[in-house]
Amino acid sequence: MVRSLIDITDLSTEELEQLTNTALDIIEHPADYAHLCAGKKLATLFFEPSTRTRLSFEAAMYELGGNVLSVTDAASSSAAKGESVADTAKVISCYADIIAMRHPKEGAALVAAMNASIPVINAGDGGHCHPTQTLADLLTIRREKGRYSDLTVGLCGDLKFGRTVHSLINALARYENVRFVLISPEELKVPSYVKKEVLQKQGLSYVQTTDLEAAMPELDILYMTRVQRERFFNEEDYLRLKDSYILTPDKLRSAKKDLSILHPLPRVNEISVAIDSDPRACYFKQVSNGKYMRMALILKLLKEAGTL
Ligand code: CP
Repeated sequence: MVRSLIDITDLSTEELEQLTNTALDIIEHPADYAHLCAGKKLATLFFEPSTRTRLSFEAAMYELGGNVLSVTDAASSSAAKGESVADTAKVISCYADIIAMRHPKEGAALVAAMNASIPVINAGDGGHCHPTQTLADLLTIRREKGRYSDLTVGLCGDLKFGRTVHSLINALARYENVRFVLISPEELKVPSYVKKEVLQKQGLSYVQTTDLEAAMPELDILYMTRVQRERFFNEEDYLRLKDSYILTPDKLRSAKKDLSILHPLPRVNEISVAIDSDPRACYFKQVSNGKYMRMALILKLLKEAGTL
């Protein structure tokens, strides 16, 4: 089986460092990378909506000199006729050199990787994980803070269904003196498997609270998330919880001057647009960082597969 990226834990700490360093080098010297994937094809298979992830993967491949094949909607592919993920992965392996796939079912990317003969990148599988968003988050933290250790990280909003939160906890858990403040309504707490398998198993420091304003003064990073409407079984519950946290300028009065505010986006209304001009707002920089990390990842996986 060729190397794929399904979960952020598939990458060692050294590999996260290498990917970050490659992304930083791409930012400094884009011309050195502009033709490295000439003649290679990325297939983006998106069976769930996306703007950033799909387009940043495609922009990444074009900026490496490669080409892109795209399925933007399950309804326009043979998945709508009942083709399995396993068969789809075998078929796409005949046309492309690497796959980035988003799917509503948890574990779908793993099934694709087990059946493809080319690398598969998980671009989000249900409420499970979203490792390349975490790569974007890590590069943003590195560029804003210069470090991954000695940080108090507030994760706020839908910590139950927010797959980017699960992947980010897994990534930051490996660094020294990282403390998590988990801010959510009772119904949207971090799943117990993440607490047991990552936070408690590794003896990490964390607190759970419903009170964003009380937590604010201690935070170095505030990672806001959208309440994931598409994962709710009941619209009434979504409507009751969707506005649990709305970050407005007055709520930042007690925040550190060098707080970094992240959000994987899309935002609904959990961050007021009045915050966009605050120098602490990093969420649009995060979007840009995602493309560079995806470029670094495509290069790494194609090299390991022997394609480059
Ligand atoms: N952050 C993220 O995954 O955005 P998209 O859903 O637009 O890809």
